[in-house]
Amino acid sequence: MPTKNFTSDAACPWPVPPDSLDLPKGLVHLWCADLDRSEESLAQLRALLSDDERHRADRFRIGSLRDRFVAGRGMLRAILGKYLQMDPANLRLNYRAHGKPELAPIWKARGLEFNVSHSNGLAMFAFTRGREIGVDVESIRPMPNAAGILERFFSAEEVAQWQCLPPEQQLQAFFHGWTCKEAWIKAVGSGLSFPLSEFCVSLSPLEPARVLSIQGDPRRAAEWWLESYEPRAGFVAAVAVHGEPQQVMRWQFGE
Ligand SMILES: CC(C)(COP(=O)(O)OP(=O)(O)OC[C@H]1O[C@@H](n2cnc3c(N)ncnc32)[C@H](O)[C@@H]1OP(=O)(O)O)[C@@H](O)C(=O)NCCC(=O)NCCS
Repeated sequence: MPTKNFTSDAACPWPVPPDSLDLPKGLVHLWCADLDRSEESLAQLRALLSDDERHRADRFRIGSLRDRFVAGRGMLRAILGKYLQMDPANLRLNYRAHGKPELAPIWKARGLEFNVSHSNGLAMFAFTRGREIGVDVESIRPMPNAAGILERFFSAEEVAQWQCLPPEQQLQAFFHGWTCKEAWIKAVGSGLSFPLSEFCVSLSPLEPARVLSIQGDPRRAAEWWLESYEPRAGFVAAVAVHGEPQQVMRWQFGE
């Protein structure tokens, strides 16, 4: 399947970063990580969680989902601790009105912004300073009802773009569009209170990812930077940032 516009790293895993890692203003750091960890790694990550997070983990009825939550939250804390040079177990996270997690005010003042996504055992974490950021990852899987989902949730312009694509590109385009839309919604933090049909992204996997219009306004859309990635074979991810970053660095969370 052609994936010209994707920053594809399927054949070349993202590197594990050095122990000490800085995130200067203007840069975006994008991390991917396996959520299925060894027992030892899981125990270390669980030790970083707050009491609330441990309670949330223990409410999962399915053990594998509990472990993935623990791994994802533990890794998020470990990375935040690296950037803030502090013990990750002491960090406190708050939630905005529609559920977007953020640092508690005492650390938020340092301008670190982040977002998280997970799909089918793969997590993505996106970090920057001083601007909104959102990330979404999806495993590419059969979608027999793709046309129906598009009609229901996407804008008329996006549906028209999708219908013009050759059938062999439509599945990739569906997940490309889905992750781009989710990444933007997550950057804004509004959840689904902002109707997905009220903004438009480019859908063709052969074109650069772009927000084309927001409530019909291309100028508002131009404030946003969007990029698509293929972090692993069979996955597609997108990152949305308010303003174009100078550079995006990609990392992998090691064992
Ligand atoms: C919650 C939502 C923000 C993303 O959900 P999702 O795509 O199912 O899940 P993801 O794994 O990508 O993201 C979940 C993470 O996003 C973060 N998050 C939660 N609410 C958020 C919000 N309002 N804004 C940004 N991030 C949010 C959390 O960190 C959460 O992970 P955690 O609970 O482990 O901390 C929301 O957009 C949603 O429910 N979307 C539904 C998806 C859909 O129907 N899409 C239609 C096709 S476009």
